[in-house]
Amino acid sequence: MERGRSAPLRLVRRRGDGPETTDLIYRDTGAFEEARSHVLTEGTWAGELTQFTKDGCEVAIEGSWTLMRDSQGRPQSILAINTDITEKKKLRAQIALAQRMEGLGTLAGGIAHDFNNILTAVMGNIGLAQLCIPSDHNAQKNLAIASSACTRAGELVQRILTFSRCPENQRIPLLLQPVVEEALQLLRSTLPAMIDLRMSWAPDIPAILADASQIHQIIMNLATNASHAMADHGTLTVRLEPVSLDVPLAGASAELPPGRYAKLSVEDTGCGMNGSTLAHILEPFFTTKAPGRGTGLGLAVVHGIVKDHGGAIVVTSRPGAGTKFEIYFPAVDIRTAAKTALPLAEPPLGRGERILYVDDEASILALSKHILEGCGYRVAGFTDPLDALRAFQTTPDEFDAVLTDFAMPQFSGLELAESILRIRSTIPVVLMSGHLRPEDRQTAQRLGLREILRKPSSVGEMVYALGRLFGRPAKND
Ligand SMILES: Nc1ncnc2c1ncn2[C@@H]1O[C@H](COP(=O)(O)OP(=O)(O)OP(=O)(O)O)[C@@H](O)[C@H]1O
Ligand SMILES: [Mg+2]
Repeated sequence: MERGRSAPLRLVRRRGDGPETTDLIYRDTGAFEEARSHVLTEGTWAGELTQFTKDGCEVAIEGSWTLMRDSQGRPQSILAINTDITEKKKLRAQIALAQRMEGLGTLAGGIAHDFNNILTAVMGNIGLAQLCIPSDHNAQKNLAIASSACTRAGELVQRILTFSRCPENQRIPLLLQPVVEEALQLLRSTLPAMIDLRMSWAPDIPAILADASQIHQIIMNLATNASHAMADHGTLTVRLEPVSLDVPLAGASAELPPGRYAKLSVEDTGCGMNGSTLAHILEPFFTTKAPGRGTGLGLAVVHGIVKDHGGAIVVTSRPGAGTKFEIYFPAVDIRTAAKTALPLAEPPLGRGERILYVDDEASILALSKHILEGCGYRVAGFTDPLDALRAFQTTPDEFDAVLTDFAMPQFSGLELAESILRIRSTIPVVLMSGHLRPEDRQTAQRLGLREILRKPSSVGEMVYALGRLFGRPAKND
């Protein structure tokens, strides 16, 4: 009996019979026997079985079997039509995965949107506090740290959206060490006290083309897994070193061509993994953790990021002997490249310009209004974009600029911008958004929007953007 063909099967097995072909080709002879007895009693059988090919490969088959009878009606043979559905099943699994990822994307999008609004409120209040206290006050330092943590949180939300929707390339040449150190600093407080965190940085690690938040995500995921694997105590070692490959290197999911790489290793002394766990760890939703404890997405995210960066992951692990993740990032061809911090500048102040400000989140609107008014602008705020449009229609010349949120129910920021620009094409419009799809970005460009601010944006970013609109750049811009 072969795949895709029909062939008669032996009806019954006698005691002492030698091995049959069916014993060799069916992985689960129990399931095969069940199908055979079903066809003998019912006359037909339809279902799926697993077979082995001659060279030992596993194939899934869909069988449709019929009992053949002789002229007296006695069972004579089974006509089995088996179709190889291995590829079909793989495709089905891929579609199911894609659907699950889509569901996750929608969920992540919803959470990210709300989370961005919360972050905007936190950042706005930090900004307000910064403006309210003298610039040499001791608390300024804490507020600056809190603000940069919020920025990082905002970037992570972006990454979640990127992972489940459309990636936008934000990679720049950077040195890994400061980024890894910063991530570990954040992480240290969350690790159990008995976990010894060791770091080792080799000299001359080449710069790579990367996105700092994604590097953060890699560290966070690997270190969190390591910490779970070690329970309360153990050693977590994070290393960076330069590597030159003369021959290709096979990673867990990709092969690296010869060349120069920056290698990041995260090694733990935890429980380790057996071969069958190891074979699946990069798959989305694969987890050995109890329900509710892990989603199985941590390493899938790491894998996605590393793949996007043109790198590869090598995993070494043995039960009871700990685990080592080695991540190779291709070097960029420059000697040193570091992410330059934004220059600190004195915010440009307004001179009574009138701003139409639209955000469906009342708390953000109130806060932004307060801040902008404190910076010398006059603000007409609306939570309903249609009210805002009506106000603009009535007195279009009363406004000098429009700042609008993008994601609003019923009428999006882009629709509002389009309607406003139709009334007065020269009014500068700034769009604020937590996540813009490339097509929305294109629409924004086509409409001629002056700036797109990412939400959550700091008070500074909003004030600087207005400064630019009115030709008043910050002092050392
Ligand atoms: N350092 C490690 N030591 C031992 N096992 C690990 C280690 N890292 C990952 N694993 C195994 O790989 C599985 C998948 O890891 P992954 O990070 O993708 O998901 P998770 O940690 O289970 O859940 P999530 O990260 O979504 O909360 C884990 O459940 C665990 O079995
Ligand atoms: Mg994890």
